[in-house]
Amino acid sequence: MIRSLLRAVVPLLAFAAGAQAQTPDPAVERGRYLAVAGNCVSCHTQESGQKFAGGLAFETPFGTLYSTNITPDPGTGIGKWSEADFVRALRTGVRPNGEHLYPAFPYTAFTKVTDADAHALFVYLKSLAPVNAPAPENKMHFPYNQRWALGMWKTLFFTEGRFVGDKSKPAQWNRGAYLVQALAHCDACHAPRNFLGAESSDLVMSGGEYTAAVPGGEQKVWSTPNLTSAPTGLKSWSVQDITDYLKTGRNAFTETYGPMNEVILNSTRNLSDSDVQAMAVYLKSLPASKPESVSKPSAEVMQAGETVYNVQCGTCHLPTGLGNQDENSGARLADSPIVQASNPASLINTIIYGPPLPNPPLPKRWKPMEGFGDKLEDDEIAALSTFLRATWGNNASAVTAAQVAKQR
Ligand code: HEC
Ligand code: HEC
Ligand code: HEC
Repeated sequence: MIRSLLRAVVPLLAFAAGAQAQTPDPAVERGRYLAVAGNCVSCHTQESGQKFAGGLAFETPFGTLYSTNITPDPGTGIGKWSEADFVRALRTGVRPNGEHLYPAFPYTAFTKVTDADAHALFVYLKSLAPVNAPAPENKMHFPYNQRWALGMWKTLFFTEGRFVGDKSKPAQWNRGAYLVQALAHCDACHAPRNFLGAESSDLVMSGGEYTAAVPGGEQKVWSTPNLTSAPTGLKSWSVQDITDYLKTGRNAFTETYGPMNEVILNSTRNLSDSDVQAMAVYLKSLPASKPESVSKPSAEVMQAGETVYNVQCGTCHLPTGLGNQDENSGARLADSPIVQASNPASLINTIIYGPPLPNPPLPKRWKPMEGFGDKLEDDEIAALSTFLRATWGNNASAVTAAQVAKQR
């Protein structure tokens, strides 16, 4: 009797276990994909640390901040958090104990995430293996080490609210807008910030700053280019060029390097073709930001810069600045958004240190560019940068030797 009961029950149990292994909660898989879109892993993982266990340092003008452990460890992670706790943190930057979170955690963008997506993210994070890893203590300067003061910051600069689509636009545009604004948080880096570290809403996507390591490990400012359709931004990139860049790390003009490596390798490259294309369609639709007033550099500086260019750079980037696909050539510098970014920091970093390439590398196309920091003096790099920013139709302000010295 018992035996026959077992015979009946055991396969049932096996079936139940098998069914569970084969069809996990679909929200887990959906959450995994959304976590890729939000690039949670890049910020919540230290070099050679466990994924999502936090501890990565962020250098801000206000001090050093560490990301936290978002695995479901009960002591050091979010193991004791309810779904409501998590959703509140994601959307309003508040911890279960009421403490405010720093906006280095881009809840200014994540506030736009839909209910269904916030739920899936939570289910996914809860499905991870818990890692016991306390976050290091932050080293923020006074008064920025006062979390209560963030409440005032939020009153001034943070508006909670879900993504609002535009019914007059096609579904693809709306999908792209949602991904770019809510999860991919492009504007967390690509919008200018005011003196209190808030994104400037009237200049969204016209270019800002991000602090990250340069080759050698030192933390330096990188400027982010204008992603609107301005001639100093993405005017010359087609929807296909933007899609290629985000999906493969390269397009006809350039390849990824520097802080974009993580964005592309950990996030956009792993999104579906249709999602990346939707993002490109939305980006391409951004109206051009207002042109800045730019003073014309002296003929003398232009001549000095051109001479450096012809000796050091022209063999690869060509005298026309157009580059090409030849193995010995390089990226296009004419109408490059990086060359023309209002803040020349990334252009200067590229010249001093060479472009830090992605790891693992992309399939070989061009011979890598080396840094010129040892070969060129500050005033030579300043003249060269000034020349690049004012020739071949490029139109951006002159660069001083002091700006170069700051990036060394
Ligand atoms: C640009 C970097 C960055 C990205 C991207 C990012 N985070 Fe964070 N996150 C942080 C930092 C830094 C903190 C710590 C903030 C603080 O201490 O005030 C944090 C804090 C958190 C917290 C609060 C944890 C606690 O213990 O209070 C949660 C939850 C969280 N992040 C979830 C996520 C999720 C989910 C994603 C992806 C959808 C994500 N983060 C993407 C940087 C980031
Ligand atoms: C963590 C900060 C950060 C985030 C997030 C970020 N960017 Fe960037 N982006 C940069 C920096 C810094 C540069 C300039 C240096 C470089 O290319 O890495 C840049 C450069 C670019 C360029 C110009 C590349 C070239 O070589 O001309 C494009 C296009 C771009 N980003 C698009 C995006 C899009 C689209 C998103 C959102 C999916 C995004 N970025 C998110 C920091 C960021
Ligand atoms: C050996 C060939 C070579 C030389 C010499 C060279 N470059 Fe490059 N450069 C490249 C390649 C290849 C890239 C693309 C980098 C990548 O793979 O991300 C590049 C990228 C760039 C970029 C980034 C453009 C963008 O929009 O993404 C700038 C700016 C740049 N180079 C400026 C210079 C300057 C200025 C010099 C001279 C001081 C110079 N390069 C010398 C090969 C070269």
